Amino acid sequence: MKAKVLVVGCTGQTGSLIVDKLEQNKIVDVRYCSRRQDQVEKWKSEGKDAVYLDLDEPRTFGIALAGIDRLFILTGYTVDMLLQTKTLTDAAVKAGVSHIVHWGIFANWDCTEGHFAWHQLVETYIKASGIAWTNLHPNYFMENLINVTPIVDNQFVMFSGKARWGWTALDDAARVAAKVLEEGEKKHSGKSYWLSTEALNGDEAAEILTEELGRKITCDTKEPEELEALFNSGSTDVEITYARNAVDIMRQIQDGRMTYMGTIRDDVPYVTGTPSTSFREWVKIHKSELLNSLTSH
Ligand SMILES: NC(=O)c1ccc[n+]([C@@H]2O[C@H](COP(=O)([O-])OP(=O)(O)OC[C@H]3O[C@@H](n4cnc5c(N)ncnc54)[C@H](OP(=O)(O)O)[C@@H]3O)[C@@H](O)[C@H]2O)c1
Repeated sequence: MKAKVLVVGCTGQTGSLIVDKLEQNKIVDVRYCSRRQDQVEKWKSEGKDAVYLDLDEPRTFGIALAGIDRLFILTGYTVDMLLQTKTLTDAAVKAGVSHIVHWGIFANWDCTEGHFAWHQLVETYIKASGIAWTNLHPNYFMENLINVTPIVDNQFVMFSGKARWGWTALDDAARVAAKVLEEGEKKHSGKSYWLSTEALNGDEAAEILTEELGRKITCDTKEPEELEALFNSGSTDVEITYARNAVDIMRQIQDGRMTYMGTIRDDVPYVTGTPSTSFREWVKIHKSELLNSLTSH
């Protein structure tokens, strides 16, 4: 019998890539979930196993987890992730889930930045649950250039000055997640996988974008204080606690406490047996998407 996998966040940019890969490979059975009933109905009408699951409503967890062997946990950018992951892990214990794969962040164990620390706290909680665990540690998504700080007027913004970040292609990270969910706890229990393929600062990324897109792209290098001012202006819908922490990441990268964010730790080949995607290759793959986004902003 195939193992059954529940992927939390499968309407999002990471989760949707993971379920696509699981569906292609057909090694495990997939259960979809969403907090939107219309989405659940749509999946059901396509013949998929789909359930209603709201991370803020633990009473939805029992039915969603019944019969699940492996659980992929992804949460968003609010402090609610602490309660969400705690209650979902408790429910997984009750439902007899045998393996949890957690989608975390790229940080040293003694990191003092808030959002990253929340991820580390829930990882500790998952470990204490007794369920076999695997932690994934992606660094800065290349897709941020499409979804978070898109290129506008041939320019994109980075708020950590000239510091380098370790970039990772979401497709690589999703391939790692899918492989771990397919191979399960026997192979991956107690393992942490680090996903940081190439270290580049904004100017270096802009140079590659310029060469591959065939037009001059520049990085508007801003300081952490400018990100703070943006959040304080009220023009974003970022949660206040997360916003404070996001500014802190930029400060800690600049003052040296989190310079490790600009380092490479690339476990993609070890888990998948295939190479990871360089930033240049990623730009080539996403060229039309990047060019479309250039003209639509
Ligand atoms: N951006 C980066 O560079 C980076 C780097 C490393 C790690 N990360 C981590 O990546 C995670 C975000 O991943 P992502 O970008 O794939 O997220 P995303 O695209 O924003 O998707 C979030 C998913 O979570 C679902 N969701 C949110 N609240 C929910 C709730 N109450 N109940 C059920 N589902 C809920 C959303 O469903 P709906 O469709 O209903 O909204 C969506 O499917 C964060 O934990 C972040 O720390 C990000």
